[in-house]
Amino acid sequence: AALRESFVQKAHKQNQRVVNLQPQASFKVAILGAAGGIGQPLALLVKMSPLVSALHLYDIANVKGVAADLSHCNTPSQVLDFTGNSELADSLKGVDVVVIPAGVPRKPGMTRDDLFNINASIVKTLIEAVADNCPDAFIHIISNPVNSTVPIAAEVLRQKGVYDPKKLFGVTTLDVVRANTFVAQKKNLKLIDVDVPVIGGHAGITILPLLSKTKPSVSFTDEEVQELTVRIQNAGTEVVEAKAGAGSATLSMAYAAARFVESSLRALDGDGDVYECAYVQSELTELPYFASRIKLGRKGLEAIISSDLQGLTEYEEKALEALKPELKSSIEKGVAFAQKQA
Ligand code: NAD
Ligand code: LMR
Repeated sequence: AALRESFVQKAHKQNQRVVNLQPQASFKVAILGAAGGIGQPLALLVKMSPLVSALHLYDIANVKGVAADLSHCNTPSQVLDFTGNSELADSLKGVDVVVIPAGVPRKPGMTRDDLFNINASIVKTLIEAVADNCPDAFIHIISNPVNSTVPIAAEVLRQKGVYDPKKLFGVTTLDVVRANTFVAQKKNLKLIDVDVPVIGGHAGITILPLLSKTKPSVSFTDEEVQELTVRIQNAGTEVVEAKAGAGSATLSMAYAAARFVESSLRALDGDGDVYECAYVQSELTELPYFASRIKLGRKGLEAIISSDLQGLTEYEEKALEALKPELKSSIEKGVAFAQKQA
């Protein structure tokens, strides 16, 4: 018996060392659309964060099982499930960061804008609840078309009198993750070192990787710039086609969203050195919303990094001008939708 006890104790200690992260902070995170293709792996990744004390999972379906499953992981956060409109408010109370991947994904042949009719209403409903229950939270919008759903969210928050432009973010981290991966592969660089800012928006030609600003500094031929830019712009479609009707990027998106959540939590926790790209209200160009590198702080967006737009190559300048009309009309479509519904 003594022998068995010491074995059990040893295994327990080892297990604690390996798996049981010690809590380092106590932030609350809500995921709306938590039972979906993105929501589930995102919930798993956020459950592994030592900065999270409570993880609220909300969906209109199937969320009980996801939460029961996840709750058995011996990491610090408590997992709670919420479902149906009647539980939406409770899922948001006291929350520091709300992540919204609720909505339908693309099938082959569709653009992200083809999702507008369904997802615009979903985002509107969820943001109304955010406005009523956790107006101070950081809001991360994943639901497409991001170019329009962020302006919708801003309008809804404005109508409710609680819009803080520093706390509303369209998640474009996946574009950066892809750009870093593809550039590292092409130029044989160590992945961990590569950082490519991606600006504009999150659809087709509105996604503009600034390859000339890649860190570490790399030179590209004109052909490489063309090939990499188009691949990064079409990477979502690459996945949609490979999945052949079964949805769009979920795993890489969950990875990217978890990175943006972790960055937000570090900023909330007082880390003064947190930079990410995101689609935010911006004065960088004449467009009211624009993705660029930003600095995150305790109160949300602390600064927009304008230097990225200086000294662009001719290719990037042209691509920037070319994306503006499409981004402008997606923004206007979102604003018009929200104002019509008011
Ligand atoms: P999915 O269909 O697998 O999951 C969506 C989930 O949302 C489902 O569980 C569904 O029940 C839930 N849902 C629907 N209406 C809801 C509501 N009113 N409230 C709460 N939950 C609701 O889809 P997915 O693959 O997870 O993609 C979700 C969204 O994310 C899509 O719009 C997709 O285009 C978008 N997306 C964005 C990016 C990005 O880079 N920003 C990347 C990938 C996918
Ligand atoms: C992506 O970039 O993968 C997402 O926006 C999903 C999509 O529809 O491509």
